[in-house]
Amino acid sequence: MGRKKEIVMSGIRPTGYLHLGNYFGAVRNYVRMQEEYDCFFMVADLHSLTTHPDTKELQDNVRRVLAENIACGLDPDKVALYCQSHVRETAELYLFLNMLAYKGELEKTTTFKDKARLQPDNINAGLLTYPVLQAADILLHRASFVPVGKDQEQHLEMSRNFAKRFNHRYGEIFPEPVAFNFGDDLVKVPSLDGAGKMSKSENQLATLYLSDSDELIRKKVMKAKTDSGPTEPNTPKPDYIENIFSLMQLVSTAEVIQKFESDYDNAQVRYGDLKKQLAEDMVRFIAPIREKAESIRHDDVYLKEVMEKGAAKANASANGTMASVRQLMGLNYY
Ligand code: TYM
Repeated sequence: MGRKKEIVMSGIRPTGYLHLGNYFGAVRNYVRMQEEYDCFFMVADLHSLTTHPDTKELQDNVRRVLAENIACGLDPDKVALYCQSHVRETAELYLFLNMLAYKGELEKTTTFKDKARLQPDNINAGLLTYPVLQAADILLHRASFVPVGKDQEQHLEMSRNFAKRFNHRYGEIFPEPVAFNFGDDLVKVPSLDGAGKMSKSENQLATLYLSDSDELIRKKVMKAKTDSGPTEPNTPKPDYIENIFSLMQLVSTAEVIQKFESDYDNAQVRYGDLKKQLAEDMVRFIAPIREKAESIRHDDVYLKEVMEKGAAKANASANGTMASVRQLMGLNYY
């Protein structure tokens, strides 16, 4: 018999269209990991409710995120690809973990502070305990590796703390999950305007979505912030120029990157040409994903089958974990 594979878990909120950051921070790793690990990937619809309580758009977005994951190369026969709300044990583990999470640490979480600032009229308890729900998603499958972008590092640290506390109080059951990337560092894909990162719901003109038309991709890339260029050789790059080169690293060939790097170093770079090249390389990268996702997105029968198959796999794993959790906690009275 083969060695038992290590378990991988990750999720994406269906709060908008997937973008290059989601691809390079997360989905690219999912696609590689599906060959070597036992993988659970889900659409985090419950997390979306903390910021988007209206579920009209959610219906469409859940299907879109599933379709986009599959279009990027995720194979629903190799992994469990499912919706968070289809795994009811998530809510039970979330409740247990909430007793081990403290108000002070939750209030200090960067994402909580950011979101509270953005929606001062709706600082709900779900928003505060968001990292506890995320820990429940991961620990439910006893996952060891969590492929995510850099922005999720703090949530992973909190998941490890909750796992440790549970293990300490009730008995060893959860591995301490770590954020995972195939490269050395976790990825942060910068936005095109040189301020912050690409994002599903903010900064839409500076974010490249996997659903953007060729024309829109060109338009956004050509608008990326530049300046009149270096006047002396070997000038350090300002942040916004560094960002453009980082985006090029993701989609352009080594020769192309080399050419523009040396043009820059020789103070001969033409940003118009650089952006045109980047735009074409982005179009070449995004167009096939967009087209594939578009065809899957409208295939109701297929998507239903994917969700059911994914939920069955995820529920089998969740039920096993929760039976042990209840046992360890002593919630067995007969
Ligand atoms: P979400 O939906 O914000 O993002 C999904 C994934 O994309 C990554 N990401 C980025 N990576 C690099 N550069 C960017 N500009 C960029 N923007 C987003 C995120 O790091 C993430 O990996 N809380 C999670 C969803 C979640 C989850 C989980 C993740 C719920 N349960 C359990 C892992 C495990 C979130 O909001 O991701």
